[in-house]
Amino acid sequence: MAELIDGKKISQDLKDEVKAEVAKLKEKGVEVTLAVILVGNDPASTVYVGNKKKACEYTGINSRSYELPEETTQEELMKLIDELNNDDTVDGILVQLPLPKQLDEDKVIRAISPDKDVDGFHPESVGRLSIGVPGFVSCTPAGVIELLKRSGTMLDGSNAVVVGRSNIVGKPMSVLLLRENATVTICHSHTKNLKEVCKNADILVVAIGQPKFIDASYVKEGATVIDVGIHRIDGTKKLCGDVDFESVEPVAGKITPVPGGVGPMTIAELMNNCLQSALMKM
Ligand code: GUN
Repeated sequence: MAELIDGKKISQDLKDEVKAEVAKLKEKGVEVTLAVILVGNDPASTVYVGNKKKACEYTGINSRSYELPEETTQEELMKLIDELNNDDTVDGILVQLPLPKQLDEDKVIRAISPDKDVDGFHPESVGRLSIGVPGFVSCTPAGVIELLKRSGTMLDGSNAVVVGRSNIVGKPMSVLLLRENATVTICHSHTKNLKEVCKNADILVVAIGQPKFIDASYVKEGATVIDVGIHRIDGTKKLCGDVDFESVEPVAGKITPVPGGVGPMTIAELMNNCLQSALMKM
């Protein structure tokens, strides 16, 4: 039986640490503020933004909400980002993705000042991460590293395999694991012998967006398995990940559940990035 890595508990601990630091700053007269921009009314995005605002409330971070209509133009959005870039009372700017199709996502990401890029999506932030200088790190992979460290998983010298090469998860994940001195392999849809490569992993991070893709036949006995996926099981309210939990759990040494694994870490890391942004200004 694998040990469960409790993302709910670990994210709560992280949020409590952020809350304590935010309170200390408040005593010195320093406020931490996140500007959240939501364009349109995509139901999933509305829920995510609501959860981010709740986490701000919990940690004592001010959230400023900008809810723009579906038909917002590129110019209108760029103007708002420019104002927020130049507003000294704003520490972090988050534009919830995806954006309506008339808007150029790449241009929007580049418009956010790298000093306020708490999502870590700006090419400057990605470049900083890749050469190992301080900067904002994408929240989900940062959360995975925290889960690994706080669950006592040995990273230094481990064989880490990342399945998936997205800009938001797979690529930054591999750089972060490398930074922890893991030997890192990135797998994707063109990888030959995926099963054998995965079976060699001490740490297996799965972020491919395919429900229950990884079963026990991909997992080495005793490996730590991190499941970044989240899917609704057809016709039910139940959730599952990219890992077939029932199959993998008896083989793995440690495993994250879905829900309650990686998911809650993303928002906790966002709060931490907002705090770090405020600290960097001091
Ligand atoms: N949409 C889905 N996940 C994210 C995220 O982490 N940040 C932003 N800005 N949009 C998202």
